[in-house]
Amino acid sequence: MYRSHTCGQLRLADTGTSVTLAGWVQTVRKFGSITFVDLRDRYGITQLLFNESLNARLDEQPLGREFVLQAKGVVNERSNKNLNIPTGEVEILVDDFTVLNKSAVPPFTIQDDTDGGDDLRMKYRFLDLRRNAVKRNLELRYAVNRAARNYLHEQGFMDIETPFLIKSTPEGARDFVVPSRMNPGQFYALPQSPQTFKQLLMVSGYDRYYQVVKCFRDEDLRADRQPEFTQIDCEMAFVEQEDILNMFEGLVKNIFKEVTGIDYIDAVERMTWEDAMWNYGNDKPDIRFDMKVTNLKVPSTVFMAKQEEVKQSPVAGETGFKVFDEAETLVAINVPNAADYSRKQTDELIEWVKRPQVGMGGLAFIKVNADGTVKSSFDKFFNEEQLKSLAAYCNAQPGDLVLILAGREERTRKAISDLRMYMGERLGLRKKEEYKLLWVLDFPLFEYDEEGNRWVARHHPFTSPKPNQIETMIKNNPVIENAADYLNHPYANIKANAYDMVLNGNEIGGGSIRIYQRELQEKMFAALGMDEHEQQHKFGFLLGAFEYGAPPHGGIAFGFDRLCAILGGSESIRDFIAFPKNNSGRDVMLDAPSAIDDKQFDELQIKLDLK
Ligand code: AMO
Repeated sequence: MYRSHTCGQLRLADTGTSVTLAGWVQTVRKFGSITFVDLRDRYGITQLLFNESLNARLDEQPLGREFVLQAKGVVNERSNKNLNIPTGEVEILVDDFTVLNKSAVPPFTIQDDTDGGDDLRMKYRFLDLRRNAVKRNLELRYAVNRAARNYLHEQGFMDIETPFLIKSTPEGARDFVVPSRMNPGQFYALPQSPQTFKQLLMVSGYDRYYQVVKCFRDEDLRADRQPEFTQIDCEMAFVEQEDILNMFEGLVKNIFKEVTGIDYIDAVERMTWEDAMWNYGNDKPDIRFDMKVTNLKVPSTVFMAKQEEVKQSPVAGETGFKVFDEAETLVAINVPNAADYSRKQTDELIEWVKRPQVGMGGLAFIKVNADGTVKSSFDKFFNEEQLKSLAAYCNAQPGDLVLILAGREERTRKAISDLRMYMGERLGLRKKEEYKLLWVLDFPLFEYDEEGNRWVARHHPFTSPKPNQIETMIKNNPVIENAADYLNHPYANIKANAYDMVLNGNEIGGGSIRIYQRELQEKMFAALGMDEHEQQHKFGFLLGAFEYGAPPHGGIAFGFDRLCAILGGSESIRDFIAFPKNNSGRDVMLDAPSAIDDKQFDELQIKLDLK
């Protein structure tokens, strides 16, 4: 028997018990003739006391950091208690010990505040994983996994595995491909998600499917993206959107309850995509704070339902201020209690919006002083009355600061959203311990692809248009005659039965009601510019399956890593993955990707000829 207890188990009540512990040496402290060792395992740390009688052996066999040690002894009450850890009231009076294995000196200290930089910790990830902070993240990940599985099992969902070696049908991201030895010159692709398989399972009658599954996407990486990541992937048959929203609100609430103890009783807020873009400039708004966007001017081709409203804006027409008059879009946010920002602070904000990531030419502002007087960055062009009326239109109160951006619609809307998040962060309005869930509904069916001057699926090509817009899709030619005018194409306004779940400004899940008739699916593929041959080649299996009694169905997939990161209060999903890749998609521990042997190329009948 290697051990009788773990290093996190013993308490004062165990005093006098003979025990055997095994673990890693965290620290060795020698005081004259006695030596203290902190022994660590997954469960905690227990102090060992080696007295005089063991000194000679310790001198012969000195203990080093991270040695694997087995110690036998008796539990004793500590005179110098450490009440910060659960085992801190006891120690083990060691009467025998065995070094089970030695350790080289670790390249960084294995404790909460480590001296190891990111690269070093990733290279020695197996050591990094011994640290409490990382261990807690993996424990949280497992708790989320359990909570999800429990709920879905209770609801009658069945976990069904789907293959990883599939056919390449790039949609959205690029595929990772795998050469086939048995079929020389042919390649599998790794799935970007099990999307088509889960739909086939619906055709097969497994009306509630789920899987906690790896997905592979060759795309540029960010803090919330990995080339292989995990989804909680779900699909249901005989459902409408409302059924799905309710079912998966339940899932997320259950995860909250089981993992964080938070009983999220409020109904999850709902917002249309159009309202999200209008009020927050973003399709995944952080609704923990208000600071909504005021739309002062927008092009006449977007937000059709809001065109009347925007006509009320005091700067919708000519103002004599070139920056405003020439702008396609003019948007503002009102920052509460920031009118006392100094010149230096407003200059900082101007620099912030000029950075390439935001890409604006500048920033205009109005300070509404506590006494009601106003001061702006464009006083030359506006008189006091005009400034006051503009500030009031932006809901400014005395003491507030109005920030205004002008430019092309898409970029400016994104920039005001970035600025809102930045100001929210600066003012401490994005509180870590607060969680706000939101459904964003009615996404556009299509998205304009500038490079190809064509329509691509906003979600994926299996998403169903809103029933009352199917005609619009079928009757109109997808070809875009005039690229500059794509917003006037009838496809620009077709909405889908598609939804995202947003948590504190992060998209944690997304899904849709699917197309389930062959004819409509063919029309959808055609709208995306696929001719019959390509449709058959890429998706013949799905079109075929739709001929054999496909039920109405829909589903959703949650970004499991992202959900864990947010619940763990981190920006980076890497912290919640045992063996993540770095920002260049490399596993620095394995040194992957790497070249392969000539023999492997021979077997694959591939000759490498890099361009
Ligand atoms: P989607 O592409 O929106 O939908 O993905 C679902 C969720 O997965 C997470 N996610 C990622 N997480 C980490 N790294 C990535 N590279 C990454 N990409 C996406 C996000 C996202 O909300 N098959 C559809 C789902 C469906 O329609 O049912 C799909 O994959 O949190």
